[in-house]
Amino acid sequence: MEFPLYDVLIVGGGGAGLRAAIAAAETDPGLKILIVSKVYPMRSHTVSAEGGAAAALRPEDSWENHAFDTVKGSDYISDQFVVETFVREAPVELIQLEHWGCPWSRDPDGKISARPFGGMTTWRTCFAADKTGFHMLHTLFQTSLKYDRIERLDETFVTSLLVEDGRCVGIAALNQRSGVMSAVRAKTVILTTGGNGRIYAFSTNGNICTGDGMALAYRAGVPLKDMEMVQFHPTGLPSTGILITEAVRGEGGYLTNNKGERFLKDYVPSKMELGPRDIISRAMVTEFEAGRGFAGPYGNYMHLDVRHLFMRELGLDYVGIDIVHDPIPVRPVEHYMMGGIDCDITGATSLPGLFTAGECANVGLNGANRLGSNSLSECLVFGAAAGRAAAHQAQEAKAPTSNPVDALLKDETRRVEKKYLESRQGTEKLAEIRVEMQRSMDEHVGVFRTAEGLKEEEKLIAGFRQRFARLKIEDRSHVFNTELTAALELDYMLELAEVMTASAINRKESRGAHARRDFPKRNDEHYLANQIATHVPGGKPKLEFRPVRITHWQPQARTY
Ligand code: FUM
Repeated sequence: MEFPLYDVLIVGGGGAGLRAAIAAAETDPGLKILIVSKVYPMRSHTVSAEGGAAAALRPEDSWENHAFDTVKGSDYISDQFVVETFVREAPVELIQLEHWGCPWSRDPDGKISARPFGGMTTWRTCFAADKTGFHMLHTLFQTSLKYDRIERLDETFVTSLLVEDGRCVGIAALNQRSGVMSAVRAKTVILTTGGNGRIYAFSTNGNICTGDGMALAYRAGVPLKDMEMVQFHPTGLPSTGILITEAVRGEGGYLTNNKGERFLKDYVPSKMELGPRDIISRAMVTEFEAGRGFAGPYGNYMHLDVRHLFMRELGLDYVGIDIVHDPIPVRPVEHYMMGGIDCDITGATSLPGLFTAGECANVGLNGANRLGSNSLSECLVFGAAAGRAAAHQAQEAKAPTSNPVDALLKDETRRVEKKYLESRQGTEKLAEIRVEMQRSMDEHVGVFRTAEGLKEEEKLIAGFRQRFARLKIEDRSHVFNTELTAALELDYMLELAEVMTASAINRKESRGAHARRDFPKRNDEHYLANQIATHVPGGKPKLEFRPVRITHWQPQARTY
């Protein structure tokens, strides 16, 4: 059977994927480009980004300041060459978006508005109202429609990367509408599938954020980097995890404990509500443990007071309070994965033909803690870089003469049938395993960690995986079998939860978002390094540390 062949195939239709597609099309208008996504691009998680995109656009700011803030925020394990490249490119990308029609909010003089954000020393978070991700995604999607050579396969779930002779040659995927497995060949593949926040019960992430790209790459032998580094955002709504944007604090909202105190004066006195997320989340949990939080049906929370300001709708709709009269209950919530697929500055991975960008990638920008509003700019800068690099590689690459995909697809179809569908005789319920995994990850791999809790989690995950092997999939239909896709997603998440837990056990220090109670200090002597996790079929992940690249900024105590 002959399968379609593309020059650049992008898995994921969010900010990084669309930006990569446009960059590839601009590099060479003759290339055939395909975006494969399990949802429609406009339903990608980028749509829910609220606060803004960082870039040093103002005369009082400089790329050096933005770079230093990012490196310090990362607790010194970002790759400083990557950071420098990022901060120089971010303004170019934001202006490019302006030219494509992004409706940025404006100052009275017509310039793009910027607001303060956590861990940034000046106002550099550019925004489009409180729907920055929505407007950026619209702009990118509409721009992508200009290019006839960019095609899309929406609602198509990728089950594996096809690898032949040590090269990525395409994907195998399940068409959710027909239930039929098929293959697409490609000279280059770019993974831009976003984060994996749904491994946790309490997360700001949409249900689609199940780490698919990370797991696909990992299974294909590509290492993951710094998977212990999970960001908890301080202000999630307790019942749903819906994000109250950091912009609320940027605009003057403040956090108080049950004594009515602005407790951050004891933790980040010079920055207060605009401290970095890791430190504020730890401060909140420490206050809860000291009995100074408010108790609620969804755990402890703090007050976010905006009565002197304005965000009324979310408070009314989701917690039934009018924030004009009452403070908003908030607590730390899983928000972002700093870890991801190890790649170089062009997005190239260790597997020839495979590139990556966006949250699923770890290019080295965010280290142990990302600064709010760097991620939207990261999707643009490194999405574009990966699109260009993949396009150049596709121009050079010869079309495969043999057609190995047929056999690879047969193998993959058999694997999916056997593992998920023929297991209908099983007894275990998918939702039960998923909820138990999410709750135990919240408990043991959260804001604070201990060897005891992490080892307990390791055992639990091994048990979940055994139970997963006895899964019962009750839905026997082919059309939009969401139980089947949920099983595929859970399989990815269990794989990643194992890597995250093993990585957290192995980093015996506290750095950025990784706070070990049993190793409370940062240890530069041993761990000024990125942690690389490699898949060992049938075994535990292989873990090793790789020294970080430092260009200008030597590590200092990280105080604010
Ligand atoms: O709070 C926020 O608006 C989140 C922004 C970000 O994660 O970059």
